[in-house]
Amino acid sequence: MRYTIADIREMKARKEKILMITAYDYATARLVEEAGMHMILVGDSLGMVVLGYESTIPVTMEEMIHHTRAVTRATKKCLVVGDMPFMTYTISIEDALRNAARFIQQGGCQSVKLEGGETVAETVRRIVNCGIPVCGHIGLTPQSVNQMGGYKIQGKTPEAAARLLNDAVCLEQAGAFAVVLECVPSELAALISRRIAIPTIGIGAGLDCDGQVQVVSDVLGFYELAPKHAKKYADLAGVIRKAVADYAAEVRAGTFPTAKQSYSMDARLLEGL
Ligand code: KIV
Repeated sequence: MRYTIADIREMKARKEKILMITAYDYATARLVEEAGMHMILVGDSLGMVVLGYESTIPVTMEEMIHHTRAVTRATKKCLVVGDMPFMTYTISIEDALRNAARFIQQGGCQSVKLEGGETVAETVRRIVNCGIPVCGHIGLTPQSVNQMGGYKIQGKTPEAAARLLNDAVCLEQAGAFAVVLECVPSELAALISRRIAIPTIGIGAGLDCDGQVQVVSDVLGFYELAPKHAKKYADLAGVIRKAVADYAAEVRAGTFPTAKQSYSMDARLLEGL
């Protein structure tokens, strides 16, 4: 059985930390589920850490659905959240509903995430009314990087902090089941977490959020342009470089493959050839 949005909400009530990480493919999704994650975000960070785009802006619905399907095929327990790409939920409500439905029907995930607060609250309400759980995302919203003038900490002035609190309340009132707080001062994230009843999931938002989310490539040390708020728990880039260099050296030296990696047949069977 997968975790449900009710399970996630109850975890906040029980003060049990909610564990979330991104994944974009079958093999990684299996491993992060085995490691005990409650939620997997198929984030549009995919565009940067897997597809090599400069930002998340070029990511398409087709790319997101393709990767979401791989993650949902790999998992049985995690609640999978599909990240709606840039401009797929803002042109019209009809467009937003159609695209949210594609994530659920074609991607197989159980919920969607979209960026923004008060300005997308009506869209969130309409998607939720169709039976699709929505996770909000406020603070640093990477799809608005051009509007924000870079990847900056948000909510640092009293006015900006009040706007973020209002955004969180609007998302809660619109029926979002959780809200990601990205790059928000810890004190403000703590206040928002106390003020709203739905769980806050922090990334660069301090310890007092109800849960944490990280980009899996940052945690594994696989993508080396990680932000300050990421902690590298492994050096996968180093492991991969060394393993592939060792393989190359053995191929050059003629020591790979050995009999163990080869198939043989009785030499007499080749005699007539
Ligand atoms: O796309 C993503 O990975 C995200 C997280 C940073 C929350 O939105």
